[in-house]
Amino acid sequence: MKILFVSSEVAPYAKVGGLADVCGALPKALARLGHQVVVTLPAYGRALDHLAWDSGVRTRSWLFGIHHELGYAVHEAAENLSVVLLQHSAFHRGGGVYGDAHGGFGDNLFRFALMCRGALEVPRAVPLGGGGPLGEDIVLHAHDWPAALACVNLRAAYQAVGVYRGARAVFTVHNAAHQGRYPGAEFGGLDLAPRWRGAVDWDGDLGLLKAGLVTADVVTAVSPTFAEELRSRAGGFGLDGLFRRVPLQGILNGIDVEDWNPETDAALAAPYRWDDVAGKGACKAALQAELGLPVRPEVPLLAIISRMDAQKGLDSVLEVAPWLLRQDIQLVVLGSGAPNLEAAFRQLAARHPHRVHAEIGFDVPLSRRIYAGADFILVPSRFEPCGLTQLYGMRYGAVPVVRSVGGLVDTVTPWSPATGQGTGWRYARPEGLQEALFWALRTWWDYPEAFAQVRENGMRADWSWDRAARQYEALYRG
Ligand code: ADP
Ligand code: GLC
Repeated sequence: MKILFVSSEVAPYAKVGGLADVCGALPKALARLGHQVVVTLPAYGRALDHLAWDSGVRTRSWLFGIHHELGYAVHEAAENLSVVLLQHSAFHRGGGVYGDAHGGFGDNLFRFALMCRGALEVPRAVPLGGGGPLGEDIVLHAHDWPAALACVNLRAAYQAVGVYRGARAVFTVHNAAHQGRYPGAEFGGLDLAPRWRGAVDWDGDLGLLKAGLVTADVVTAVSPTFAEELRSRAGGFGLDGLFRRVPLQGILNGIDVEDWNPETDAALAAPYRWDDVAGKGACKAALQAELGLPVRPEVPLLAIISRMDAQKGLDSVLEVAPWLLRQDIQLVVLGSGAPNLEAAFRQLAARHPHRVHAEIGFDVPLSRRIYAGADFILVPSRFEPCGLTQLYGMRYGAVPVVRSVGGLVDTVTPWSPATGQGTGWRYARPEGLQEALFWALRTWWDYPEAFAQVRENGMRADWSWDRAARQYEALYRG
């Protein structure tokens, strides 16, 4: 099959969160299955753009009352896998993917509408790998609200005039809290025929996530439990009625087990694997030294690697902090986002310099050293569609302590001393964090063999993309 991915984030080109990891890794797995995959994202002007060559192709899209010219740079990433970076001045600017220090960019509706238009030109116009373009017989796989207009445009701007006739559209929901809502009056800028207004309308506003749900052939959510939650009033982010009506399937994410492998990860102080974790001890010592914490192998090192957003429930960690910091533990936090949370973790570190290190920022190599050096990874999320940090944690031998929501339920099985099965600790209500930590730490201190078993169970679990890639393949076929 010929598969076109459209996403605002793709690792390693541009990453804010797990969306990037998924759109970086799933295409590789699909390409390995023999499909021809093209991944499109805006060229934000990041370091990796130099990998790509300019195709020379230029197209024009009419949006918000003017023609916009797009350029296309191609990176042949692997066999059967091309990455096409969309070039336009609206993408190439300082700051992040969605905004800068002053907040979200004011023209994001335009930017992502342009991404969606440009992406759909790729299979028709952009030659790949010395051959021709992908062609019209494609499966479109669009991700989250920024890419939702690709599904709408496929119908409205192309199939309506006989292009991409046999194409199928799959829309994946990674996070339904972000819905791409804009004033209804902006509809006129999208260059869609009036009959498509209903598809993008949400309560008088434009609702892009909603538009993706109703124009795709199939909708997926990134874990079975999240799919269930989306159909419920409490977990549907106001769209539960729609989630109950559309064909929605939960497919659990995987991780790129080649890229995230403690045996080969060049960022680590020493390699290790499940049956020989000596190197992990070296990684822990190196991390403690790097972050200015006392180098003590016997103290349990807890880590959080997270966007600092209400979703992630980090306030519950601050609540248990007085109790937690009376224990002989170390806590390492890597993240950025909400200024109040950044400040609170900075303060905690300032008050407990021998126990807490807070690194405010976004640093992928450091995140790797933390997964490797940590004994536990905490994921106290209010909601978590899938969650990847618990997966990287398990792969690197950092045992997860997670709230029982979304994909965390589908990926972390509670440790059972009776059976020797289980990969971590889970709790249901936010107040349950302290008790879960109590048992996790108790196991570390009093039952080291049990702890070693939980860690080993997680390290040996198979989180590769192969299973999920087969599930997507079946959906693409229809
Ligand atoms: P979300 O997509 O909601 O942010 P996930 O758990 O799916 O949550 O994915 C988060 C991804 O971002 C993981 O790859 C994690 O390692 C990474 N990450 C989060 N915060 C940081 C940070 N401050 N520095 C480096 N990587 C981070
Ligand atoms: C979203 C979700 C996260 C998920 C990621 C990748 O950002 O918040 O839970 O793992 O997408 O699907």
